[in-house]
Parts: sequence; C-alpha cells; structure tokens
Amino acid sequence: MTGAAGLVGAEVTARLAAAGHQVTALVHNNPVLVRNDGTALETGAVTCLPGDVTEPRLGLPEAEYRALAAGGLDRIVHCAAVTDFGLPDEVYQAVNVDGTAHVLELARAGGVPLVHVGTAYVCGERDGLIRETELDEGQRLANAYEDSKFRAETLVHKAQAGGVRAAIVRPSIVVGDERTGVVRDYKNIYVVLKLATEGKVRSIPGQYEARLDLVPVDYVADIITEVTQRFEEAAGRTFHAVGAPLTLRDFSDVMAEYPPFHVPRFIPPTSFDTQRLPRRERVYYERVMTLYESYFRRRMRFDDSHTAGLVTRRPPGDGQDFLRTLIDNCLETGYLGVPMADATEVLARLNITGPNATAAAHATGAPHGTGSTVSDANGVGR
Ligand SMILES: NC(=O)c1ccc[n+]([C@@H]2O[C@H](COP(=O)([O-])OP(=O)(O)OC[C@H]3O[C@@H](n4cnc5c(N)ncnc54)[C@H](OP(=O)(O)O)[C@@H]3O)[C@@H](O)[C@H]2O)c1
Repeated sequence: MTGAAGLVGAEVTARLAAAGHQVTALVHNNPVLVRNDGTALETGAVTCLPGDVTEPRLGLPEAEYRALAAGGLDRIVHCAAVTDFGLPDEVYQAVNVDGTAHVLELARAGGVPLVHVGTAYVCGERDGLIRETELDEGQRLANAYEDSKFRAETLVHKAQAGGVRAAIVRPSIVVGDERTGVVRDYKNIYVVLKLATEGKVRSIPGQYEARLDLVPVDYVADIITEVTQRFEEAAGRTFHAVGAPLTLRDFSDVMAEYPPFHVPRFIPPTSFDTQRLPRRERVYYERVMTLYESYFRRRMRFDDSHTAGLVTRRPPGDGQDFLRTLIDNCLETGYLGVPMADATEVLARLNITGPNATAAAHATGAPHGTGSTVSDANGVGR
C-alpha cells in the first residue's frame, strides 16, 4: 500500500488488515497511520516501510525492494499522490507520474497485480456522461493535478498492454464519512466552503447547473478494498467511486438553511470581473478560488456501472442530505464556526415547551430542528 498514511490510504489499510491481510505500508513524511475518525490504526498486521515513490525502487534499500519483488507481495495498491492544488508542475510530475512509473516497475518485476487509485476528474472539462471505459477523449484538463493523474493512468494502460495486470479506481471529490460527516483533513473543497460561508468570498464565477461530485471517504475505501480483494473479477477494468449528484443550486439552497452562513452568488463566468471584487476578496479569489473555479462550471455526470456491478454498497442517494451531514460535522468540530443551537433548546429559552414545540419549530421554518428565525432574532447559534 503506497500512501498508506493518507486520508484514503489509512482507511483502505485498516480494512485490509481487518480482513486478515498482512499489509506492507509505504510511508513518506508522515509515518503514523491514523484513521479518518482520528483513531490510531492497529499496527499488528501492518508493517511500515519508509520510502519515496519519486525515487527508483520507491526509495527502498535494494535488498528490501528485491524481497518485495520476489514474492513479498500479492497485490499493490497505489494511493500515494500529491493532492493539493497550486503546486509547481515538477512536483505533480515527480510524485504522481514518475511515482506511478516506479510502482509499475515493481508490479512488472514481481508479476504483482496493481490497483491504481486515479481520479474521476481525468475527464477534465468534458460535460455530459463520463464512462469508466473512457480516458483520452481529447479533453482539456483543468490543472496540473488532473493532467498528472491523466498521464499516470495512461502509463497504467500502457503497462497493461505490456502484461502488467491492473484495475483502476477513480474517486471524485473525497469528503467526510457518509453517516457522521467526520473527516480527518479539511482540505481542498473544505477550504472553499470555509471561505464562502465566512463571507470572505461572496461571488464566484460558476453556473448554478454545474455539478459537484462529493463522495464519502468510507465508500471510496470500501470500493478500493473490494477491488483489491476481488482482483480477478476487477482486473483490466476501471471503477468510478463517485457520489450523489449535487448542482451548485442544490449547494446554495443547503447553505441558505444555515443562518450564520453567507451564501455566495455564482456569476456566469463571462460576466465575472475580478477587478470589480473588493480588494480583500480579490486576494482570496486569486490565491485560492482560481485553483478550483473550473469545478464550478462543469456539468459532467459520472457513470458507475462497473462499480455497481461489483460492490453492493451504493453512494448516498440524496446529495443535499449528505451535504447537510458534512456541514453539521464541520459546525460540531468548529471548522465552520460554532454549532447552531438545537430548536428545542431555542424554544425552551422562549418558554415554548412540550408537544407544541415541534410544531412551533416547523412554524419557524427551522432546518434540522434549528430555529432559524428564532435564532436569528435572538442571536442564538452564532
Ligand atoms: N482526496 C481527494 O479528494 C481525491 C479525489 C480523487 C482522487 N484522489 C486520489 O486518491 C489517492 C489518495 O488520496 P488522499 O486523499 O488519501 O491523499 P492524501 O491524504 O494527500 O494522501 C496522499 C499520501 O501520499 C503520500 N505521498 C505523497 N508523496 C509521496 C512520495 N513522494 N512517496 C511516497 N508517498 C507519498 C503522502 O504521504 P506524506 O503525507 O507522508 O508525504 C500521503 O500519505 C490519490 O491517488 C489521489 O490522487 C483523491
């Protein structure tokens, strides 16, 4: 397992270890395996090896590398990557592209099947239905990260033609746990959410019909684990690990349910003018939002027939409900300010108690049992 200490890698490692496998975990800067819920991973069935995918032999001592290639592995799961946006091109090349080449060398040398973790966004800026069987459709890739993942996947396909057995799993935008919303690392889309809800970024170039695809980390880890364990059925195929479709309209509607939040306006990109932004907002826009803005224009929909045919678990059925779960968790942990007061609590402060409280809560239009009107009027929950 490369990238074993990462958000997805730690969850897959935990699942494989729990299923009785001995996992050899390649670790890099961070040697500690922590699960998404913050608990330390049981290391009994896991052997950590310090390494670096940018280096030949994954940076391992020659003897160790040879031992792995000579029967020390049944599968390789390649999760390591740089996933932050806005880094120099050379970093994506070294880690995501050359790193994949080095992993493929080990797979080739040892005759070991490979599960490669890509991204659904190798589709670039294509609109419409994106199939698991498609890769190079002449699409424009939106940034250096997508470009590197596209080239990495192309290397996997070439290696397959040369005899390496591989399956590919492509997650979309990985976020918190489906049931609890808990996420270990608030990165990427979470930063956008924070800037928007705090009102630091009030207008964003985008289309309300654009689609964001948010997928729970536990669902992604389940799919990668299943593909790894049932490799004979998965070999040679690609699996989308994607969530429930959520348009920017859906996104805005959910944000508007939370009284403390600012709701950004999405402005058609052709009429958006950076120069008209207030100076402070322009700084946030130029430093952060420009990295993500193509995600607010795309209208793709990911087909996941291969995944549906292999695993029984399905992604969240309702994108808006899932978004509420994520936001509620961000409020509980303080990432997006303090949690709003519960409706019953707010009504109790107004001396409205008993069975009518629920009806009264509905009358206030309170989302999730929070008294939006009441809390606004009383400054509760800010
Ligand atoms: N997160 C998403 O939204 C998302 C969406 C689609 C696809 N994916 C794909 O899913 C996979 C896992 O992503 P993630 O969210 O778990 O990312 P992550 O939390 O950033 O983890 C990436 C892991 O890769 C390791 N790594 C980075 N450079 C390395 C190097 N030179 N040598 C060895 N290991 C190195 C990191 O170790 P250190 O931190 O110690 O350097 C880290 O453990 C990646 O392939 C990513 O492209 C992620």
